[in-house]
Amino acid sequence: MSKLIIINLKTSKNSVETSEYLEQITKYDYKNKVVILPSVSNLFLSSLYTSNIEYGVQDFYYKDGDSLTGAVNLKMLEFMNVKYALVGHHERRKEFKESNATINKKLIYALNNNVIPILCIGESLKQSENKNLCKAFLKKQLSLCLRGVKKSDYEKIIIAYEPTFAIGAESGANLEYVENNIRLIKELLSNNQKYNIKVLYGGSVNEENYNLYLESEVIDGVLVARFAQKSENLMKLAGRNE
Ligand code: PGA
Repeated sequence: MSKLIIINLKTSKNSVETSEYLEQITKYDYKNKVVILPSVSNLFLSSLYTSNIEYGVQDFYYKDGDSLTGAVNLKMLEFMNVKYALVGHHERRKEFKESNATINKKLIYALNNNVIPILCIGESLKQSENKNLCKAFLKKQLSLCLRGVKKSDYEKIIIAYEPTFAIGAESGANLEYVENNIRLIKELLSNNQKYNIKVLYGGSVNEENYNLYLESEVIDGVLVARFAQKSENLMKLAGRNE
Protein backbone atom coordinates (compact mmCIF):
# COMPACT_ATOMS: atom_id res chain seq x y z
CA MET A 1 0.00 0.00 0.00
CA SER A 2 1.35 3.42 -0.93
CA LYS A 3 2.21 5.67 2.03
CA LEU A 4 2.44 9.41 2.37
CA ILE A 5 5.98 10.74 2.97
CA ILE A 6 6.12 14.39 4.04
CA ILE A 7 9.53 16.03 4.24
CA ASN A 8 9.99 19.12 6.36
CA LEU A 9 13.13 20.90 5.19
CA LYS A 10 12.72 23.40 8.06
CA THR A 11 15.53 25.99 7.94
CA SER A 12 18.15 23.51 6.79
CA LYS A 13 18.86 24.75 3.28
CA ASN A 14 19.50 27.97 1.34
CA SER A 15 18.17 28.36 -2.20
CA VAL A 16 21.18 26.73 -3.89
CA GLU A 17 21.08 23.73 -1.56
CA THR A 18 17.30 23.38 -1.96
CA SER A 19 17.69 23.54 -5.71
CA GLU A 20 20.37 20.80 -5.67
CA TYR A 21 18.18 18.64 -3.43
CA LEU A 22 15.13 19.03 -5.65
CA GLU A 23 17.17 18.38 -8.76
CA GLN A 24 18.36 15.06 -7.31
CA ILE A 25 15.01 13.82 -6.07
CA THR A 26 12.93 14.83 -9.07
CA LYS A 27 15.02 12.60 -11.37
CA TYR A 28 13.09 9.56 -10.16
CA ASP A 29 9.61 8.19 -9.54
CA TYR A 30 8.63 6.72 -6.21
CA LYS A 31 6.31 4.02 -4.90
CA ASN A 32 5.11 6.26 -2.08
CA LYS A 33 3.60 9.72 -2.42
CA VAL A 34 6.15 12.45 -1.63
CA VAL A 35 5.38 15.94 -0.36
CA ILE A 36 8.22 18.44 0.16
CA LEU A 37 7.90 21.43 2.50
CA PRO A 38 10.68 23.89 1.56
CA SER A 39 11.12 27.15 3.46
CA VAL A 40 8.81 29.92 2.20
CA SER A 41 11.87 31.67 0.74
CA ASN A 42 12.60 28.62 -1.43
CA LEU A 43 9.08 27.70 -2.49
CA PHE A 44 9.54 29.47 -5.82
CA LEU A 45 11.74 26.51 -6.83
CA SER A 46 8.63 24.31 -6.91
CA SER A 47 7.82 25.52 -10.41
CA LEU A 48 11.31 24.60 -11.68
CA TYR A 49 11.28 21.07 -10.29
CA THR A 50 8.03 19.46 -11.23
CA SER A 51 7.47 15.73 -11.23
CA ASN A 52 5.30 13.39 -9.19
CA ILE A 53 6.42 15.26 -6.11
CA GLU A 54 4.00 17.66 -4.45
CA TYR A 55 4.71 20.75 -2.37
CA GLY A 56 3.50 22.41 0.77
CA VAL A 57 4.32 25.33 3.02
CA GLN A 58 5.82 25.10 6.52
CA ASP A 59 4.01 28.18 7.80
CA PHE A 60 1.83 31.10 6.67
CA TYR A 61 -0.27 33.92 8.04
CA TYR A 62 -4.00 33.29 8.22
CA LYS A 63 -5.40 36.62 6.99
CA ASP A 64 -5.73 38.19 3.57
CA GLY A 65 -5.11 41.89 3.03
CA ASP A 66 -2.68 44.35 1.47
CA SER A 67 -1.31 45.88 4.65
CA LEU A 68 0.18 43.12 6.76
CA THR A 69 3.87 43.98 6.70
CA GLY A 70 6.14 40.97 6.72
CA ALA A 71 3.35 38.41 6.47
CA VAL A 72 3.01 35.71 3.81
CA ASN A 73 -0.52 34.44 3.35
CA LEU A 74 -1.75 31.65 1.10
CA LYS A 75 -3.07 34.06 -1.56
CA MET A 76 0.48 35.30 -2.10
CA LEU A 77 1.67 31.73 -2.64
CA GLU A 78 -0.94 31.05 -5.29
CA PHE A 79 1.48 30.18 -8.11
CA MET A 80 3.90 28.20 -5.98
CA ASN A 81 2.14 24.83 -6.17
CA VAL A 82 1.16 24.84 -2.52
CA LYS A 83 -1.11 21.85 -2.06
CA TYR A 84 -0.45 21.28 1.66
CA ALA A 85 0.22 23.44 4.72
CA LEU A 86 1.75 22.40 8.01
CA VAL A 87 -0.08 23.71 11.08
CA GLY A 88 0.61 23.23 14.77
CA HIS A 89 4.17 21.94 14.49
CA HIS A 90 5.80 21.67 17.92
CA GLU A 91 8.49 24.20 16.97
CA ARG A 92 5.81 26.78 16.06
CA ARG A 93 4.03 26.14 19.35
CA LYS A 94 7.25 26.37 21.38
CA GLU A 95 9.39 28.96 19.61
CA PHE A 96 6.60 31.20 18.29
CA LYS A 97 4.11 30.62 21.12
CA GLU A 98 1.34 29.52 18.77
CA SER A 99 -1.79 28.52 20.67
CA ASN A 100 -4.39 25.94 19.68
CA ALA A 101 -6.69 28.89 18.93
CA THR A 102 -4.23 30.33 16.38
CA ILE A 103 -3.63 26.88 14.90
CA ASN A 104 -7.40 26.50 14.52
CA LYS A 105 -7.56 29.81 12.59
CA LYS A 106 -4.73 28.70 10.30
CA LEU A 107 -6.36 25.33 9.68
CA ILE A 108 -9.71 26.87 8.72
CA TYR A 109 -7.98 29.47 6.53
CA ALA A 110 -6.08 26.69 4.72
CA LEU A 111 -9.30 24.72 4.12
CA ASN A 112 -10.99 27.87 2.81
CA ASN A 113 -8.12 28.26 0.35
CA ASN A 114 -8.36 24.63 -0.81
CA VAL A 115 -5.03 23.77 0.76
CA ILE A 116 -4.77 20.50 2.73
CA PRO A 117 -3.80 21.18 6.35
CA ILE A 118 -1.32 18.79 7.99
CA LEU A 119 -2.22 19.21 11.64
CA CYS A 120 0.55 18.29 14.10
CA ILE A 121 -0.41 17.12 17.55
CA GLY A 122 1.47 15.23 20.24
CA GLU A 123 2.04 14.82 23.94
CA SER A 124 5.12 15.49 26.06
CA LEU A 125 7.23 12.83 27.75
CA LYS A 126 5.56 13.47 31.09
CA GLN A 127 2.07 13.16 29.59
CA SER A 128 3.10 9.97 27.84
CA GLU A 129 3.73 8.31 31.19
CA ASN A 130 0.05 8.35 32.14
CA LYS A 131 -2.30 6.72 29.64
CA ASN A 132 -5.42 8.62 30.71
CA LEU A 133 -3.63 11.95 30.83
CA CYS A 134 -2.17 11.32 27.40
CA LYS A 135 -5.58 10.43 25.95
CA ALA A 136 -7.19 13.52 27.50
CA PHE A 137 -4.40 15.73 26.16
CA LEU A 138 -4.64 14.43 22.58
CA LYS A 139 -8.44 14.71 22.69
CA LYS A 140 -8.20 18.32 23.87
CA GLN A 141 -5.62 19.30 21.25
CA LEU A 142 -7.79 17.78 18.53
CA SER A 143 -10.99 19.43 19.67
CA LEU A 144 -9.40 22.89 20.05
CA CYS A 145 -7.51 22.74 16.75
CA LEU A 146 -10.57 21.42 14.86
CA ARG A 147 -13.11 23.73 16.48
CA GLY A 148 -15.79 24.79 14.00
CA VAL A 149 -14.57 22.39 11.31
CA LYS A 150 -17.39 20.31 9.81
CA LYS A 151 -17.02 16.57 10.48
CA SER A 152 -17.45 15.97 6.76
CA ASP A 153 -14.31 18.07 6.21
CA TYR A 154 -12.14 15.86 8.43
CA GLU A 155 -11.19 13.75 5.44
CA LYS A 156 -9.61 16.86 3.88
CA ILE A 157 -7.15 17.08 6.79
CA ILE A 158 -4.03 15.04 7.48
CA ILE A 159 -3.00 14.48 11.08
CA ALA A 160 0.69 14.19 11.97
CA TYR A 161 1.03 12.50 15.33
CA GLU A 162 4.36 13.62 16.77
CA PRO A 163 5.06 12.96 20.45
CA THR A 164 7.15 16.02 21.26
CA PHE A 165 9.88 14.04 23.02
CA ALA A 166 10.58 12.14 19.79
CA ILE A 167 11.13 15.24 17.62
CA GLY A 168 14.80 15.97 16.96
CA ALA A 169 15.73 13.15 19.32
CA GLU A 170 18.06 10.19 19.01
CA SER A 171 15.38 7.58 18.50
CA GLY A 172 11.74 7.50 17.45
CA ALA A 173 8.85 6.55 19.74
CA ASN A 174 8.09 2.88 20.38
CA LEU A 175 6.09 1.35 17.50
CA GLU A 176 3.36 -0.20 19.64
CA TYR A 177 2.94 3.03 21.58
CA VAL A 178 2.64 4.99 18.32
CA GLU A 179 0.15 2.52 16.85
CA ASN A 180 -2.05 2.69 19.96
CA ASN A 181 -2.15 6.47 19.89
CA ILE A 182 -2.82 6.60 16.17
CA ARG A 183 -5.70 4.15 16.62
CA LEU A 184 -7.00 6.40 19.38
CA ILE A 185 -6.78 9.52 17.18
CA LYS A 186 -8.64 7.74 14.36
CA GLU A 187 -11.34 6.63 16.80
CA LEU A 188 -11.71 10.10 18.29
CA LEU A 189 -12.10 11.65 14.87
CA SER A 190 -14.23 9.11 13.13
CA ASN A 191 -16.77 9.04 15.93
CA ASN A 192 -18.28 5.76 14.75
CA GLN A 193 -18.57 7.05 11.22
CA LYS A 194 -16.60 5.58 8.38
CA TYR A 195 -14.36 8.55 7.73
CA ASN A 196 -11.06 7.79 6.09
CA ILE A 197 -8.67 9.98 8.05
CA LYS A 198 -4.96 9.80 7.35
CA VAL A 199 -2.72 9.84 10.40
CA LEU A 200 1.06 9.96 10.00
CA TYR A 201 3.83 9.45 12.52
CA GLY A 202 6.67 11.94 12.99
CA GLY A 203 9.70 12.16 15.27
CA SER A 204 13.23 10.87 14.63
CA VAL A 205 12.34 8.62 11.74
CA ASN A 206 15.73 7.27 10.66
CA GLU A 207 17.67 4.53 8.88
CA GLU A 208 16.99 2.00 11.66
CA ASN A 209 13.27 2.50 12.14
CA TYR A 210 11.66 3.80 8.94
CA ASN A 211 10.65 0.37 7.68
CA LEU A 212 8.93 -0.45 10.97
CA TYR A 213 6.70 2.62 10.77
CA LEU A 214 6.04 2.27 7.05
CA GLU A 215 5.12 -1.40 7.31
CA SER A 216 2.53 -0.75 10.00
CA GLU A 217 -1.06 -1.06 8.80
CA VAL A 218 -2.21 1.62 11.24
CA ILE A 219 0.28 4.32 10.20
CA ASP A 220 -0.54 6.06 6.93
CA GLY A 221 2.89 7.60 6.40
CA VAL A 222 5.63 9.64 8.04
CA LEU A 223 6.57 13.28 8.60
CA VAL A 224 10.36 13.48 8.54
CA ALA A 225 12.90 16.25 8.90
CA ARG A 226 16.62 15.50 9.56
CA PHE A 227 16.88 12.03 8.01
CA ALA A 228 15.22 13.00 4.75
CA GLN A 229 17.11 16.25 4.31
CA LYS A 230 19.70 14.10 2.51
CA SER A 231 18.37 13.23 -0.94
CA GLU A 232 19.62 9.60 -0.82
CA ASN A 233 17.65 9.01 2.38
CA LEU A 234 14.50 10.55 0.93
CA MET A 235 14.83 8.08 -1.95
CA LYS A 236 14.96 5.16 0.51
CA LEU A 237 11.88 6.39 2.39
CA ALA A 238 9.94 7.07 -0.75
CA GLY A 239 10.84 3.76 -2.42
CA ARG A 240 12.64 4.82 -5.58
CA ASN A 241 11.47 3.05 -8.74
CA GLU A 242 14.42 1.76 -10.77
P1 PGA B 1 12.97 14.92 12.97
O1 PGA B 1 11.88 16.09 13.01
O2 PGA B 1 12.57 13.97 11.89
O3 PGA B 1 14.25 15.63 12.68
O4 PGA B 1 12.94 14.29 14.33
C1 PGA B 1 10.54 15.75 12.89
C2 PGA B 1 9.68 16.99 12.92
O5 PGA B 1 10.15 18.04 13.36
O6 PGA B 1 8.53 16.92 12.51
